[in-house]
Amino acid sequence: MHLTDLAKKVQSGEKLAMLTCYDATYAKLMEAEGVDILLVGDSLGMVIQGDSNTLSVTMQDMLYHTRIVAAGAKRTIIMADMPYGSYEHDLQVALTNAQALLESGAHIVKIEGGGHMVETARYLVTHGVPVCAHLGFTPQSVEQLGGYKIQGKTVDAAHTIMLDAHAMSDAGVSFVLMEMVPATLAADITSQIAVPTIGIGAGVECSGQVLVLQDLMGIYSGPADKDPQAFKAPRFVRNFLTETGSVQGAVRAYVHEVKNKTFPAKQHSY
Ligand code: KIV
Repeated sequence: MHLTDLAKKVQSGEKLAMLTCYDATYAKLMEAEGVDILLVGDSLGMVIQGDSNTLSVTMQDMLYHTRIVAAGAKRTIIMADMPYGSYEHDLQVALTNAQALLESGAHIVKIEGGGHMVETARYLVTHGVPVCAHLGFTPQSVEQLGGYKIQGKTVDAAHTIMLDAHAMSDAGVSFVLMEMVPATLAADITSQIAVPTIGIGAGVECSGQVLVLQDLMGIYSGPADKDPQAFKAPRFVRNFLTETGSVQGAVRAYVHEVKNKTFPAKQHSY
């Protein structure tokens, strides 16, 4: 499978199903169930390492998990997050780190943010590194954003995300991923930009969907550990495991519902 094959699927009207994946066993299972993209997300800082956010994840962590995911899935596109501190300050450092992720088995890297990150995306793409731009709620900026909050609610904020999405698309990224933005904004962006969009809490009109594997299984960490009594799973999360009774069944149901546009439903969107 190549990135261009995914673009063709989107052109033919098929939705893309993406899940986070951190090891070979799950990678094999997800590949067998037809997941289109395995995201080696820096969410591993929370769901694997037990931290309250993604900020402490290192390049070493990402290289290790990318390598073991690649060991389990030989035919599926693997996207790896560039961790906090590995790409924001220096274009050459960003390129060296991105290339290391590709050498470990990723086909594409994901960076967070619009604005000045557009130049970083352009630099990586020009040097042969496929990029996904992550807009809306960007977990590496959780402190600046004041917590896990929906983004793009005001006209100005929505306009900024729209401009960033256009700029990233023009810079040559392969995907724009949007997290926790109003469904109408995500739909407008999806219809306007030249590249496929992936949503998480961004409505059903995106070209594809992504969920954190543990969320799909109803295992919550990070904010849930901080205050278990007050914790409420985010609106866009659905526990497919209780519905199906097995991990394999949960992944299969997720892929099926994404492809059939029954997930996310209105109640999972903003
Ligand atoms: O790291 C991650 O799991 C992510 C998803 C929330 C999209 O970036």
